[in-house]
Amino acid sequence: MLFKAAFLAAVVAAADTILPADLNVNDTASIVAVTKTLAAGAMSYYNGTASAYSPLPSPYYWWEAGALMNAMLDYSRLTNDTTYDGIVAAAIANNTGPANDFLVPAQKLDEGNDDQAFWAFTALTAAEHNLTQAQGAPSWLDMSINTWNNMVARWNTTMCAGGFTWQIYANNFNGLNYKNSASNGGVFLISARLALLTGNATYVDWAHKIWDWSVGVGLVDSHYNVYDGTDSANNCTEINPLSFSYQNGIYLYGAAALAKQTGDDVWAQRAEGLLGAAALFFSPYENATNIMWEHACEGVGTCTKDMKTFKGFLSRFMYAAVEVLPSLAPNVTDYMRASAVAAGKACSGPDIDGAPTANGTTCGQKWYVGGFDGSVGLGQEMCALETIQGLLTLNSVLAAANPPPPASTTTPAPSPSPTKNAAPAGLAPLDLRWTVVSIACALFALGMA
Ligand SMILES: *[C@@H]1O[C@H](CO)[C@@H](O)[C@H](O)[C@H]1NC(C)=O
Ligand SMILES: *[C@@H]1O[C@H](CO)[C@@H](O)[C@H](O)[C@H]1NC(C)=O
Ligand SMILES: *[C@@H]1O[C@H](CO)[C@@H](O)[C@H](O)[C@H]1NC(C)=O
Ligand SMILES: *[C@@H]1O[C@H](CO)[C@@H](O)[C@H](O)[C@H]1NC(C)=O
Ligand SMILES: *[C@@H]1O[C@H](CO)[C@@H](O)[C@H](O)[C@H]1NC(C)=O
Ligand SMILES: *[C@@H]1O[C@H](CO)[C@@H](O)[C@H](O)[C@H]1NC(C)=O
Ligand SMILES: *[C@@H]1O[C@H](CO)[C@@H](O)[C@H](O)[C@H]1NC(C)=O
Ligand SMILES: *[C@@H]1O[C@H](CO)[C@@H](O)[C@H](O)[C@H]1NC(C)=O
Ligand SMILES: *[C@@H]1O[C@H](CO)[C@@H](O)[C@H](O)[C@H]1NC(C)=O
Ligand SMILES: *[C@@H]1O[C@H](CO)[C@@H](O)[C@H](O)[C@H]1NC(C)=O
Ligand SMILES: *[C@@H]1O[C@H](CO)[C@@H](O)[C@H](O)[C@H]1NC(C)=O
Repeated sequence: MLFKAAFLAAVVAAADTILPADLNVNDTASIVAVTKTLAAGAMSYYNGTASAYSPLPSPYYWWEAGALMNAMLDYSRLTNDTTYDGIVAAAIANNTGPANDFLVPAQKLDEGNDDQAFWAFTALTAAEHNLTQAQGAPSWLDMSINTWNNMVARWNTTMCAGGFTWQIYANNFNGLNYKNSASNGGVFLISARLALLTGNATYVDWAHKIWDWSVGVGLVDSHYNVYDGTDSANNCTEINPLSFSYQNGIYLYGAAALAKQTGDDVWAQRAEGLLGAAALFFSPYENATNIMWEHACEGVGTCTKDMKTFKGFLSRFMYAAVEVLPSLAPNVTDYMRASAVAAGKACSGPDIDGAPTANGTTCGQKWYVGGFDGSVGLGQEMCALETIQGLLTLNSVLAAANPPPPASTTTPAPSPSPTKNAAPAGLAPLDLRWTVVSIACALFALGMA
């Protein structure tokens, strides 16, 4: 019996067909295999090729294609499966617009600042990981900088003493009245990541300015809750109290990147505060400890197609935050391992409602139900993909922070030398940072800092 189970497991592993529902969060091969299935599921919604971009089918908006390409860039770098690289590069190159800043005339009817920001996040991911350049396009970094320059020019002080509006064009829905956290957090995050990539202080200054404004009008409250937006028509005195997971994630990753770039503990404290506030998006019921949910809409069943993508971005940004601020790892681990397992179980559905996904591994929406809930779509695929593939990031951060004790080998013990206690060169900065931050946190918690 035991033998048979082990044999079957080996066959399944060899065939690369570990079902998402059987995900083992501690096993790289299991994560990679499940991720491969989910990447195919997400890309089944995309008809482009390595030589031609194709918009997502209606009703998916343009920004979501940008978000999908970011998920796929992460997929490629994390798994080393380059199957989709050409398709992704073509999609990005097609959407950079005439000034290579993701301001695309053809999208005038639906491009807002947050949409543009999502495409910039994709270029930043490519820049951060030195991904192969798209042919004929400027560097990923230049695209990101172009976008930043285009966006900051729209900082609007007519009302509310600043802020970015949701929309770029006055005649789009809600025009230039609504100032939302996705747009303001979006430029905040782009600034933080550019600061980290270039060391240019201008980006740090802007990040400070946008953070202070966000706190000033109450988009980020004193408990680090992030709210959807505020109306500039009444000078941003009333906050729309809805709060979505990705909005927290955007500010969280930005704060974590700034903690790394500036070494200023205030940013680490803000990142921790935001991670604490993210509790709102986990553990909806006693039977669902640490499982992520979109609390503003899942329970009441009002999530739109857009909203069904958001959990994936909170996952993406939590993992990215851990990469730059490893002291966040333990708490993120609790959330993400439980959520990844639950997401895997949700990806066990048939290809109903015209879903192009493979029958049997289609993802549902609500992870706390313990299985497939019958709600299918691209967002559901992307959420599971980002939540599960990021475990590879997390596990490598955890491994770097807790290197296994050196294996005893046949090598004779080295004679005492001044360097015998030094950490491996590559790990030193990470370990040091973790230690410093942990001590600082402990002192802070004790009221001593
Ligand atoms: C994964 O490993 C951690 C310790 O490294 C352990 O606490 C946890 O239970 C493991 N989870 C699974 C599903 O094996
Ligand atoms: C992809 O193209 C085929 C052929 O035109 C079409 O039937 C299918 O619906 C398209 N799928 C998507 C996801 O756009
Ligand atoms: C991908 O390749 C890198 C570099 O060779 C390696 O360190 C990493 O472990 C690989 N990842 C996986 C999931 O195989
Ligand atoms: C983008 O792709 C569409 C559809 O494949 C094509 O019509 C358009 O010319 C492309 N634009 C650019 C700038 O590559
Ligand atoms: C990317 O390239 C730069 C410059 O060559 C290097 O400093 C950096 O470490 C590289 N980053 C990664 C993730 O490989
Ligand atoms: C700035 O916001 C006001 C509304 O508060 C709007 O009328 C104006 O067009 C905006 N300016 C820009 C450049 O978007
Ligand atoms: C709008 O609010 C800002 C602070 O957010 C304040 O400086 C400004 O005076 C207010 N404008 C009006 C017209 O009330
Ligand atoms: C820093 O970034 C700003 C904004 O992109 C740019 O104008 C400036 O030239 C940069 N400074 C340096 C030294 O590169
Ligand atoms: C992790 O969570 C615990 C319990 O909620 C909290 O006390 C601690 O400050 C958090 N640590 C970090 C680094 O956010
Ligand atoms: C899809 O899988 C279900 C079981 O999950 C099965 O009942 C159904 O027949 C399958 N559909 C197709 C088209 O194969
Ligand atoms: C947990 O409880 C909620 C609320 O009662 C329910 O909707 C959900 O299906 C339960 N999940 C599991 C795994 O039983």
